[in-house]
Amino acid sequence: VSVAVIVVAAGSGTRLGYSLPKALVSLAQRPILSRSLDPVFALEREVQLVVVVPRQHSALAEQIVRDTAGRASTSCSIVVGGVSRQESVAAGLAALEPSIEVVLVHDAARALTPVAQFEAIIAAVTETGLAAIPGLPVSDTIKRTDGFGRVVATVDRSELSAVQTPQGFPRAQLEAAYAAASGDFTDDAALIQTAGHDVTIISGDPLAFKITTPWDLRRAEQLLADAAP
Ligand code: CTP
Ligand code: MG
Repeated sequence: VSVAVIVVAAGSGTRLGYSLPKALVSLAQRPILSRSLDPVFALEREVQLVVVVPRQHSALAEQIVRDTAGRASTSCSIVVGGVSRQESVAAGLAALEPSIEVVLVHDAARALTPVAQFEAIIAAVTETGLAAIPGLPVSDTIKRTDGFGRVVATVDRSELSAVQTPQGFPRAQLEAAYAAASGDFTDDAALIQTAGHDVTIISGDPLAFKITTPWDLRRAEQLLADAAP
């Protein structure tokens, strides 16, 4: 099957707190966006890569994509994102080549995601014909509150999963779900589920954590320093 990877990098990164959009912020000498493309270029198979970039700094983002060493055979499209993540994914979907059958949607902010996680999601979607997403068990005890700080209940942790990206979908399913979407969804699997399709969770990787706060950026830098020879 032919596979596309949409990397959404159009967010502003409010919680990281830099003036530059998060994807353009440096992570150990290289922009987060550039690092997030490494596993895509490391894939054994050929894929269509679609990078969704912030409108404000689209020229710089495009330059970063071009400068990231890639296989010459990787077809790469760059499109401008929207105000919400959902709009950015929709912009990426509009750039898919007609032959694409499986679509992965990935957060650029998960810059250290191992290539094995991409391979596992592609394999799962290809084998089952269903949506597949990576997830990890939740380690904290989770409480439900009434919104005023009062605890209502302790949630059964064994039922919970903290989900990551890339999330993989049969193209037709994802396109139909986006065409029908109303409301704001924080991930694509939620949209697919609302459309009535099954979603399977496979085991994620702690390295696929999302860089959201300055603390996360520090952690990513530390992990890269530890891995350096
Ligand atoms: N994203 C996007 N377009 C948007 C919003 C988010 O492409 N309008 C992307 C981000 O670039 C990121 C991923 O979606 O790779 C996950 O979003 P998040 O971590 O929330 O990033 P930001 O929205 O940029 O950060 P914040 O919410 O702190 O502003
Ligand atoms: Mg956000």
